[in-house]
Amino acid sequence: MSSIKKITVIGSGTMGHGIAQVSAMAGYNILLRDVEQKFLDSAIAKIKWSLEKLFKKQKITEMEMQNILGRIQVTTDLKEGLQNSDLVIEAVPEDLVLKKIVYEGIDEFAEGKTLYASNTSTLPITEIASLTSRPDRFIGLHFFNPPQLMQLVEVIPGRETKTNVVDTAMSFINSLGKQPILCRRDVAGFIINRIFIPLVHEAAYCLERDHTSLVAIDSAVKEKMKFPMGIFELADYTGLDVIYKATMIMYSRDKRVVNPHPMIQKLFEEGKYGQKSGYGFYEYKKEQYERVNVPTNEIHPYDPIKLVAFAANNASWLISNGACDRIDLEKALKLGMGLRAELFETVKSYGIESIVNTLRQLAQENGVVYEPDKYLIDNLKS
Ligand code: 3HC
Repeated sequence: MSSIKKITVIGSGTMGHGIAQVSAMAGYNILLRDVEQKFLDSAIAKIKWSLEKLFKKQKITEMEMQNILGRIQVTTDLKEGLQNSDLVIEAVPEDLVLKKIVYEGIDEFAEGKTLYASNTSTLPITEIASLTSRPDRFIGLHFFNPPQLMQLVEVIPGRETKTNVVDTAMSFINSLGKQPILCRRDVAGFIINRIFIPLVHEAAYCLERDHTSLVAIDSAVKEKMKFPMGIFELADYTGLDVIYKATMIMYSRDKRVVNPHPMIQKLFEEGKYGQKSGYGFYEYKKEQYERVNVPTNEIHPYDPIKLVAFAANNASWLISNGACDRIDLEKALKLGMGLRAELFETVKSYGIESIVNTLRQLAQENGVVYEPDKYLIDNLKS
């Protein structure tokens, strides 16, 4: 990765500021660009908060903290932001029309040597790449929230991405101290979001169909599925705006990947985005990072078998369709979502037959989105 020295991050929101920070922590010089100074001020405040946390935990020294901050410049001027840039990482909101405008600007000012990467969570890489002058030197680099703590970055080549660009991207991610996982097909949601986003909707269906509560589901997800956060807590943390947009994109690409629940759209339309707006599934008081107090599963018993089955089915689809193998899938879930047990180990603990039967029952009652995938059926036979 010696060819990359200066990086431009376009968009300073939740992901953009985190990507800028982790890149600066790895020694790169960063130009963080956004359309208004107030967004950049807020990004720098968040970076300072995060660095302070790391300093207090003795993960970095005070001197390092100052050096990292010194490597991050901010600008609202795109031309200035792209000067002498080796790599652009775009992290603007998930809207193809907006991305088109942004890439037109990037194409106008970027130098010939600059590689393009998008942190899109769900939009097709090949389609975004086709909006630019260099689809052969364009790649998806999908970081996870919070980028400062999550180890995974999905690397997604588009149809025209050259092999040497994929290699460069993989070693760039390694140079950040993160772990790249190649998503071998440009599928809706890539690896993690193909499991995570539909699971939020499924949890909303469980809430309704099983007449249970948010905390009952969340404690079951934490204790029985070994997630570090409950699924509703994680949705609030990720942002219901992000989840709603990702849902719509995934649904428009593949009707079978997600079964949108109206509750997500309602929360989005009411501006209840989760932690960032003070309300989502839960209520929040702090401006910064805040955890929900989820009581234990013993107090609120709930069996998450439908959620296990649904997650395993989408995971199976990824394997059957060649997006990743089982090893990479489990690695991605561990590094990108912090799962403390392998998903297919949880499946095993229920018994594959019960999981497949649960899906068949759900398919009968609620439609094809639940039909068990070939990979699960084949495992049932073996
Ligand atoms: N920088 C530095 N420190 C941070 C931080 C940041 N950005 N964010 C949180 N922390 C700190 C907390 O303040 C806390 O500090 P403290 O010990 O002083 O209180 C510390 O990290 C640990 O936090 P928690 O006590 O909440 O403990 P956890 O062990 O649960 O770790 C977590 C937090 C790493 C966020 C963990 O809960 C986790 O992995 N959650 C799941 C996150 C996830 O699934 N992300 C992916 C979502 S999908 C996505 O991003 C894709 C997109 O396209 C939608």
